[in-house]
Amino acid sequence: PGLAVYDPGFTNTASTRSAVTYIDGDKGILEYRGYPIEQLAEKSTYLEVAYLLIHGELPTREQHDKWVHEITFHTFVHENLKSQLQGFRYDAHPMGMLLSSVGALSTFYPEARNISDPQVRHDQVVRLIAKMPTLGAWSFRHAQGKPYVYPDNELTYTENFLSMLFKMSEQKYNPDPRLAKALEVLFILHADHEQNCSTNAVRSVGSSQVDPYSAVSAGIAALYGPLHGGANEAVLKMLKRIKVPENIPAFIEGVKKGDEKLMGFGHRVYKNFDPRATIIKKAVDDVFEVTGVNPLLEIAQELERIALEDDYFVSRKLYPNVDFYSGLIYEALQFPPEMFTVLFAIPRTSGWLAQWIELVDDKEQKIARPKQIYTGDRQLTFPSAEERW
Ligand code: CMC
Repeated sequence: PGLAVYDPGFTNTASTRSAVTYIDGDKGILEYRGYPIEQLAEKSTYLEVAYLLIHGELPTREQHDKWVHEITFHTFVHENLKSQLQGFRYDAHPMGMLLSSVGALSTFYPEARNISDPQVRHDQVVRLIAKMPTLGAWSFRHAQGKPYVYPDNELTYTENFLSMLFKMSEQKYNPDPRLAKALEVLFILHADHEQNCSTNAVRSVGSSQVDPYSAVSAGIAALYGPLHGGANEAVLKMLKRIKVPENIPAFIEGVKKGDEKLMGFGHRVYKNFDPRATIIKKAVDDVFEVTGVNPLLEIAQELERIALEDDYFVSRKLYPNVDFYSGLIYEALQFPPEMFTVLFAIPRTSGWLAQWIELVDDKEQKIARPKQIYTGDRQLTFPSAEERW
């Protein structure tokens, strides 16, 4: 009390204690609940990782099957919410649709406000993880003027998402398992990343003890911003602008002069490599085996090769981050750029909820209310309108 430290963006202030995700940026380590991201991406599934994040430990077989069953059978959304989505303009941004429909979910489940009841919390966690792909896929279909596809509960989480996105006839949609697996890996990589901007938003709003739908919609709003969720879209735009590998040296010179940034390079925390980028690079090959190679891949690879040999990038410890390759995969899967952030929001929901539960359970947490350093005027005398005009 009485002491105010000026720390814009909280770069030096820990806002919470957390046991969810560990990052060592110098060593390129990312762990969820102590398990290295490389092992989770290789051996686990997104829903198992979501269980791990939320419950703090791996499920037994029984717990796993119950968890998957519960999530699978909450994938449908109320028809009135479907009508709300249909009321959006034809060119509505899918993130705007997602954030408002997740906020609207709180009105469908008013009991969600009773956050002190662990069963109530569990029910909303299941509903949110289950319904995010449905809402995300429907916002995608909306932009295309196509009918919304209902969930197919015989499919896995990522297969069902692909079905709701791309199904074109009454016949059952059978996604290529390699694409479903690649999406599973991308979902695992994006599930949590400790106190990033959107997680901080979820915690900050959640500290008012609002329901989790409202808190998560605040997270989606934070992710909507270009400095957080939009970098992979910027990478694609950059690659398209470079067009052919012959243009790379001139582009790099421009970056070094400070004309622009090499998008998809550098990270606030990771200063040697981003472990997620290494895993994504492998997924690129799997996806392109199915979809055919995106011609922009050649430019990306050449750009990476040149940058990693250039003293400007080496001396500043600038390496490819998770966004350098993810946009290429999403484009190969035929997602328009506006959908890229939705593909981030869906898996990040489990991380947001894990952190929200930790917040609600933590008796030391208080309502978020940062101090300020006041820089305005004081003690002025208010002049009447006659005196001013
Ligand atoms: N291209 C060229 N120069 C760069 C880049 C880049 N991508 N990133 C940093 N630098 C330079 C920067 O100009 C500075 O140079 P100098 O010391 O001469 O002034 C030096 O490297 C240090 O950079 P910084 O801005 O202090 O680093 P930061 O930790 O504040 O910024 C960053 C991290 C991710 C915002 C930044 O690297 C960047 O803007 N990268 C491009 C955008 C991008 O790919 N963002 C996705 C981040 S990963 C997503 C996630 O984890 O959620």
